[in-house]
Amino acid sequence: MSCQTIIVVGAGAAALSFAAAMPPSYEVIVITKESVHDSNSTLAQGGIATSIMPEDSIVQHAEDTLYAGCGHNHVETVNDAIVDGHRLVHELISQAFPFDKDQQGRLRLGKEGAHSANRILHAGGDATGRMLIRHLADKLGSNVVLKEYEAAADLWIENGCCAGVWTKDSTGEVRLRKADGVVLATGGCGNLFQMHTNDRSVTSDGLSLAYRAGAELTDLEFVQFHPTLLVKKGLALGLVSEAVRGEGAVLIDENGQRVMEGVHPMKDLAPRDIVSRAIHHKQKAGSRIFLDITSIPDFTQRFPTISSLCDKAGISIEQGRLPVSPGMHFLMGGVSVNRWGETAVPHLYVVGEAACTGFHGANRLASNSLLECLVYGKRAAERIQTMKHRMPLSGKAPKPEEIVFSVPECSLEDIQKNMTAHVSMIRSEAELRNVRNWLEEMPVQRINVKDITKAELELAHSWQTAKLMTDSALLRTESRGGHFRSDFPARDDANWKGKQIVHSKGRIAIRHNEGIVNHAAAHA
Ligand code: SIN
Repeated sequence: MSCQTIIVVGAGAAALSFAAAMPPSYEVIVITKESVHDSNSTLAQGGIATSIMPEDSIVQHAEDTLYAGCGHNHVETVNDAIVDGHRLVHELISQAFPFDKDQQGRLRLGKEGAHSANRILHAGGDATGRMLIRHLADKLGSNVVLKEYEAAADLWIENGCCAGVWTKDSTGEVRLRKADGVVLATGGCGNLFQMHTNDRSVTSDGLSLAYRAGAELTDLEFVQFHPTLLVKKGLALGLVSEAVRGEGAVLIDENGQRVMEGVHPMKDLAPRDIVSRAIHHKQKAGSRIFLDITSIPDFTQRFPTISSLCDKAGISIEQGRLPVSPGMHFLMGGVSVNRWGETAVPHLYVVGEAACTGFHGANRLASNSLLECLVYGKRAAERIQTMKHRMPLSGKAPKPEEIVFSVPECSLEDIQKNMTAHVSMIRSEAELRNVRNWLEEMPVQRINVKDITKAELELAHSWQTAKLMTDSALLRTESRGGHFRSDFPARDDANWKGKQIVHSKGRIAIRHNEGIVNHAAAHA
């Protein structure tokens, strides 16, 4: 039997965790539209969450995940992923992955929002993602080929199965890469908004590719806004990790008043949606917001990445006040997948932020995303090895001229501006309707894959995803986690408990998911 070929789209932690777990008998082609260094994983300052201390437990980690997720997590998925994640983090420890240690050589355990225990492992202070990518890249076998600067333009679906990827490289050459299985690991949709923590290359590609191929998208209304992006003159310059608040920093307004005092019992380490909205209200009332870091004496050693961001921006760490503002960080929803990363389209897998596994619910617990990348990358690799060869191809792939995209006659900046103004942290029916109408009525050009530019392709993917996200936000008439409606400000379990909004093949529907169990844990 000939060797099977698997194509992975993206080169972040989920992609490399998958590729590193594939045996030499498979040819694995990892394509990424920028360099291997350009991904959200590389930027990840936060660490990897797992219970380490005797007084902590897998059960407690799961409880915290469910609490942050606001009663919208798939409970079995949460338990299962945390157990598998615990094992994989211990595997990393046994492989001498350079997790930070204290002077006594014990693992240094940080704390982040909504965690009830110190259980965040970091590497390089605030460079965990970069170190993890390096570690996984070093483990890749010679069966894994990396193709940089090659964008996935479309999926090839034959007889209802995913049979390959149409790609376009930086010279404009279009290729049909045939494959026995395709794994999308493109990240989410951070660039739908003006202020975000994502890499510039994260432009909704995986969501849109999967949707075009007939897969289902779920939970797109749940968007996590991180409370603390470093800002100057209205521009976001990067993330200031929640680990900084875990070390004692506090949010203050321009009069030095604590922002989180009286808002939530966990104060500055409350779940992210709560902290971000508290900041937003203060900003609406006219105040600038700062992170007071004066209680962290060794800030520069402890947070080298953030210190370098401040340095480059001319923001003084010595003064002890970092200007911050919330911004888009993470999409909880994505392509619906099962425990193996399988989608509704046979031979198409999705892992990492592009997937919706049910792990994060309506609001992701801090430092659970690299954990999810490790778990689902590995699982998809295990599953794909049990997969039979796909049916022989007819050989009748469409001509490139037949692969056509609807490209809106607006710019990505126009979409970002509208999404930020009206589909962001606080939403309302009137504003959502306006944006939806604007997106729907947008004139489009039909451009085929040979003629389309990379920027037009990204615009097409972003426009498609913006429409679906806006529709989901309009339909969910309650507030929960990363979805807040000023006209429906309360969580409405009577009408929305266990309900998911799904998009598939041009239709939107509300579906009951049995695995989502109402969770109202007491906390703090
Ligand atoms: C952070 O470091 O604050 C982000 C970590 C995460 O998103 O999990």
